[in-house]
Amino acid sequence: MNSADVRKKYLEFFKKRGHAEIPSAPLVPENDPTTLFTSSGMQPLIPYLLGQPHPLGKRLVDSQKSFRSQDIDEVGDNRHTTFFEMLGNWSLGDYFKKEQLPWIFEFLTKELGLDPKRLYVTVFEGGNGVTKDTESIEIWKEVFRGVGIEAKEGERIFAYPAKKNWWSRSGEPQNMPPGEPGGPDSEVFFDFGEQLKLHEQSPFKNEKCHPNCDCGRFLEIANSVFMQYQKMEDGSLKELKQKNVDFGGGLERMIAAVNDDPDIFKTDMFTPLIHILENVSGIPYGGSKGSKESEGEEKTTRAMRIISDHMRASVMMMADGVLPSNKTQGYVLRRLIRRSLLYGRKLGLSKDLTYIGKLVAPIAQIYEGAYPTVTEKAEEIKLILQEEALRFGKTLERGLAEIEKVKTLDGKIAFMLYETYGFPWEMTEEIAREKGQQVDKKQFEQEFKKHQELSRTAAAGMFKGGLADKSEATVALHTAHHLLLAALQKIVDPGIRQRGSNITAERLRMDFNFARKLTPEELKKVEDLVNQKIAEDLPVVRKEMKREEAEKIGAQMEFGHKYPDVVSVYIVGSPSDFFSAEFCGGPHVGRTGTIGRFKIKKEESAASGIRRIYASVE
Ligand code: SER
Repeated sequence: MNSADVRKKYLEFFKKRGHAEIPSAPLVPENDPTTLFTSSGMQPLIPYLLGQPHPLGKRLVDSQKSFRSQDIDEVGDNRHTTFFEMLGNWSLGDYFKKEQLPWIFEFLTKELGLDPKRLYVTVFEGGNGVTKDTESIEIWKEVFRGVGIEAKEGERIFAYPAKKNWWSRSGEPQNMPPGEPGGPDSEVFFDFGEQLKLHEQSPFKNEKCHPNCDCGRFLEIANSVFMQYQKMEDGSLKELKQKNVDFGGGLERMIAAVNDDPDIFKTDMFTPLIHILENVSGIPYGGSKGSKESEGEEKTTRAMRIISDHMRASVMMMADGVLPSNKTQGYVLRRLIRRSLLYGRKLGLSKDLTYIGKLVAPIAQIYEGAYPTVTEKAEEIKLILQEEALRFGKTLERGLAEIEKVKTLDGKIAFMLYETYGFPWEMTEEIAREKGQQVDKKQFEQEFKKHQELSRTAAAGMFKGGLADKSEATVALHTAHHLLLAALQKIVDPGIRQRGSNITAERLRMDFNFARKLTPEELKKVEDLVNQKIAEDLPVVRKEMKREEAEKIGAQMEFGHKYPDVVSVYIVGSPSDFFSAEFCGGPHVGRTGTIGRFKIKKEESAASGIRRIYASVE
């Protein structure tokens, strides 16, 4: 069974149980300046979990592309990744625990064929005014009894506090901001067996092994969140009007369980990438099942895992319109690429850095069925990656030369290397060791903390500047964004399509396909047309319609996005003779007259064949 089979089986299983399939949302959340990436399946569904009716009903299923940068330092072991695909199903105030838990068990054991004896489950032990989840315990006992297993608490069913068995986007209840939904959860773990001796070889060997032990013997493969609470301003948890189920299961991990090998880098989602790295470096991949590798092997195996993970994440981000830059998503992408190239040096790959371009085609192939955009953009992505690699190669040589000049590699310099060149801490330590020096880790950590504080403040500022606070400014720019696209198509070229966007309260940014620089005359005409449409004070109307119908009227879709059967379309002008129509979730102004004066600030190249416009309203 490969990844495509598991994904398909999951979607079919829930479709048979009355769920409508929704397409994966893009990795960069649309019109949500408060967060950089989609990091779970529930994220695009928040309004519906809070009670807004979903156009496709109360039962939904999908496979969502997700990215979690907070896991970046964990990547390199056999199970952590930054990018992953999350299989998800939702009940929006419809079914609850007694349907969800048996269904998941049935899916894992009957559809994927996992041995029930190898499954262990966890529940919430209570806290923060919420009682212990005895209901789930009883359901699990019944489910296991059905396959002849007597499941006892403390043996097969384990209760944990909120740190482990409460889920919200911000973790435990005390960390949830007002308005945030969350709830207790119940997780399923797959046991890779004692015989692999993973526990004995781990740093946890002196403690008792249990499902949430980090030794690697147990792998979490399924998480059913009972999303029934919302955090209030006074810090309390209030029951939501509807009791929801929010399920998430990592596709890569499920395949690892099916393969009965804890190394997810040995699944079909990674093996083609590992093979390329083996070929270009001439070093075999280790990752042998259970037995300990030598230190050297461990390093190269870790490097191959990091490169495969980071390059997969990079390609998937770029397919969703992110380009390397020094800001926001582009900055994360640039760091992923740089880290990959640095770890490549551990495989002896330091001369021709364009080898990373070779990883694009196999990634596109892995996702051919599920995300065809990757294939459509593969050539473009490869060129951008190779350009970026060449540029980094030059910077890196300069960085290494800088290090040579320094007598003592103090923590501050180590942090500069981390910040400017993307050097992970361990790599700096190793450079330093080669020079017979030690680096002050404490000082490095202090710098790191200072930086974290700064970025937290920046993130808070971003939140303030986004839809949450100054919604009027952001919403006006969002509608201006639609007008700009239509104006570009009318004045410059009807073939222009949006390739990425980002809107804050201060400005909009739009990327689109076009081969050359726009002339000042063209830019002036585009600006004038947008301002003319603003002056006409046209109505902006949201319509829900069948996807085919929207396509027929010529509504603009974002390149490469998959849309559900029923879509929301924003129309500017009269529906029979509109100026702009776009597939979009909103929000927008009611009439264009409220937007203000539109001004193009800058036009530049974003990548080969892609132009970028910055504009604002005054
Ligand atoms: N939201 C939960 C998670 O991300 C379940 O989908 O694990």
